[in-house]
Amino acid sequence: MKNRSHSLSGVHLKNAIEATDLRKSYGTVNALDGIDLSVEEGKILGVLGPNGAGKTTLVKILTTLTRPDSGRCIVAGYDVVAQARQVREKIGLTGQATAVQEELTGAENLEIMARLYHMPKRTAKSRALELLDRFDLLDAKDRAAKTYSGGMKRRLDLAASLVGSPSVLFLDEPTTGLDPRARIGMWKVIENLVGGGTTLLLTTQYLDEADELADEIIVFDKGKIIAKGTSDELKRSVGGDVLNVQVAEEEDLAEVSRVLETLASTSANVSNEELIVRIGVGSRGSSALAEALRELDRLEISVADISIRRPSLDDVFLQLTGHSTAEGPGTSSSKRTKLKRGEANES
Ligand SMILES: Nc1ncnc2c1ncn2[C@@H]1O[C@H](COP(=O)(O)OP(=O)(O)O)[C@@H](O)[C@H]1O
Ligand SMILES: [Mg+2]
Repeated sequence: MKNRSHSLSGVHLKNAIEATDLRKSYGTVNALDGIDLSVEEGKILGVLGPNGAGKTTLVKILTTLTRPDSGRCIVAGYDVVAQARQVREKIGLTGQATAVQEELTGAENLEIMARLYHMPKRTAKSRALELLDRFDLLDAKDRAAKTYSGGMKRRLDLAASLVGSPSVLFLDEPTTGLDPRARIGMWKVIENLVGGGTTLLLTTQYLDEADELADEIIVFDKGKIIAKGTSDELKRSVGGDVLNVQVAEEEDLAEVSRVLETLASTSANVSNEELIVRIGVGSRGSSALAEALRELDRLEISVADISIRRPSLDDVFLQLTGHSTAEGPGTSSSKRTKLKRGEANES
């Protein structure tokens, strides 16, 4: 997706989404604390952040479901507060809670949706079939949606949000709770979607998902944007390589972390579950690796694995916030890999 050809440089594309200083609080919680963002037509913006970061609140405001306390946003050329009806005609939304009606068949779900768009019965039927085919649900079209797998329900949900051919689409955590295979299937579906010029704002807790799908990423934490850029720009901001050391014995973690910190003069990140110590080593990749090996050997610490790699988005988030997307501040980073593999709990 990131490699789709972009407009000629210097040509100004219209923004499909534009938000200025959006604020929303619930009691003492600042769910959105001054958000500015814009998305050019036909692009995918990934909004990446942990639970409670404010992603759904943002989506609700942009899709007219909630009003902001202050600030302004324009979606598909209309003001979300003053022209909510026009905005609704232009957008599609797949929220965290599914809109699928379990007792109805896949086909019926989509036909009902099409009727809501005032399509004549015949058009509604053919539109439903076309979408079922596109989302690989044709074989299951006459089965009640309650018999669908999680991945199939998500695809049906997504199909339903496309019945009205929206120009701007919002997907709130489209793969949370899906197994790894269904997630990849969903990614393919999403990639194909945007080829047709649809603008997409996608929220996710998964770093690899943002990496895979988004043209540009904004990183959310506690109602604020803490970073934005392309995946490559964000990774570059970490500055250089990351050294990973996996120890054989948990009791060695503290010592390894001390050794690496001395070597890199920065703080290490320890995962007790994976027995891994990670540390940024800047541009000194291979020499840092050699030095670490020598020192650990001298101390007779046995190492299960040692490697140098380019930073991941995971490293970016960790560096920016001091905690990973999976957890609150101050806890260990051990859940990160799990989160990336898509085994996080439904939220
Ligand atoms: N309707 C609501 N009433 C009270 N608090 C809310 C409501 N919606 C969201 N919040 C709070 O606002 C913050 C952001 O929530 P949300 O936008 O759902 O985050 P995310 O989607 O990133 O998990 C959280 O602290 C959440 O508890
Ligand atoms: Mg949410």
